Amino acid sequence: MMPSGYFPKDFQWGVATSAYQVEGAAHEDGRGPSIWDTFSHTPGKVAEGHTGDVACDHYHRLEEDLDLLAALGVNAYRFSVAWPRILPSGRSPTNPKGLDFYDRLLDALCARGIQPHLTLYHWDLPQRLQDEGGWGHRDTIQHFADYAEVVARRLGDRVASICTLNEPWVVATLGHEKGIFAPGLTDRWLAAQVSHHLLMAHGLAVKAMRALVPRVQLGIVLNLAPSDPARENAADRAKAHLEDGLLVRWYMDPLFRGRYPQDVLEHLGTDGPDVKLEELTLIREPLDFLGINYYTRNFIHAEDPNAKAPGKMGFTDMGWEVYPQGLTDLLLRLARDYSLPPLYITENGAAFVDRLEGDTVHDPERVSYLEQHIAAMSAARDQGVDIRGYFAWSFLDNFEWASGYQKRFGLVYVDFDTQRRVLKDSARWYRDFIASQRSR
Ligand code: FCB
Repeated sequence: MMPSGYFPKDFQWGVATSAYQVEGAAHEDGRGPSIWDTFSHTPGKVAEGHTGDVACDHYHRLEEDLDLLAALGVNAYRFSVAWPRILPSGRSPTNPKGLDFYDRLLDALCARGIQPHLTLYHWDLPQRLQDEGGWGHRDTIQHFADYAEVVARRLGDRVASICTLNEPWVVATLGHEKGIFAPGLTDRWLAAQVSHHLLMAHGLAVKAMRALVPRVQLGIVLNLAPSDPARENAADRAKAHLEDGLLVRWYMDPLFRGRYPQDVLEHLGTDGPDVKLEELTLIREPLDFLGINYYTRNFIHAEDPNAKAPGKMGFTDMGWEVYPQGLTDLLLRLARDYSLPPLYITENGAAFVDRLEGDTVHDPERVSYLEQHIAAMSAARDQGVDIRGYFAWSFLDNFEWASGYQKRFGLVYVDFDTQRRVLKDSARWYRDFIASQRSR
């Protein structure tokens, strides 16, 4: 079955990856260490002690992987640049070999007619900057804008878009408050400063790049989801509203309305960031697009943080509820509440337990997940939401952060012992779906 809906010919159908999750070659060609190298090498932080040292070895298999990408028929590819490959210590001098790799990647994409969508920061802060205070330190804001400039100058001539940050909520909250992602800190005050610094770094980088690459679309990627109350009572509704504040409004309001949400500022109290008016102006720098990563909704119960959602359509291997309606709800709500630039769904996908059988992997659950979510996106488009592209997460099975290689999100199966790639049924389905869109 194919999702209904009409998509224009220039709609971007892509897949996404990120540097640390696929590249490997962690110590090669002058790359400096990042906070994820440190974190993954710290015992107990990542499942089974897995690290991104080798990952999918994509760094050495570029041409082969891009042939595979072309075979999927995608017209867009979202990837990230590893800051520590470009600036091993986080600041100049630049590492020419690091830039050469992305130069080759862009040429190879262009040769195959695939539009490059570049992300500057997908969580791999140079360790050296972390040693000096990381995102908690204001100097990192300027270092990030400098890095953005280096990338825009060298690579900006061939990219369709540049995203500054991937999922600042994850960086701030999971990295600095919950401590389950790098750098593994547990300080709510620090996490709030970090979120503010990240948004300022985003604004400063956009400003710097705008002058250099006026034709490139500039934006940011947020992980957003509806927070639904578990029960129709006041306590659950209030908790859900606060969760929405922390996840959605804390980022959307400063980016698109020029202020932080009052209820969340009150909730944070003395842990909240110290915000100046000119900083809010910087954060509000106009954008060409907003990228949204959607996987599941939040299901909020006032007393029970582990309350399980109904899951009528099942759960993924991450334990995340399959809830495509949440994507439609989210998109309609954002379009109603904010004055938005064009949107991209920059990540959407699911981990399931995959079994390699000869040359095939049958993953009917992933096929149906993709089909239902594309249909959910299409429903929002039909109601007027301006969505320009969709990127399945992920191109390849890869290093899934704290879950290591145990969770497989790829459309392409990777045998991590041999680095063999095998198209899953979902890859074939996506290829056929894209082809059917082209021939309409
Ligand atoms: C997102 C990340 C991405 C991947 C998916 C499953 O939060 O951006 O790197 O890990 O989740």
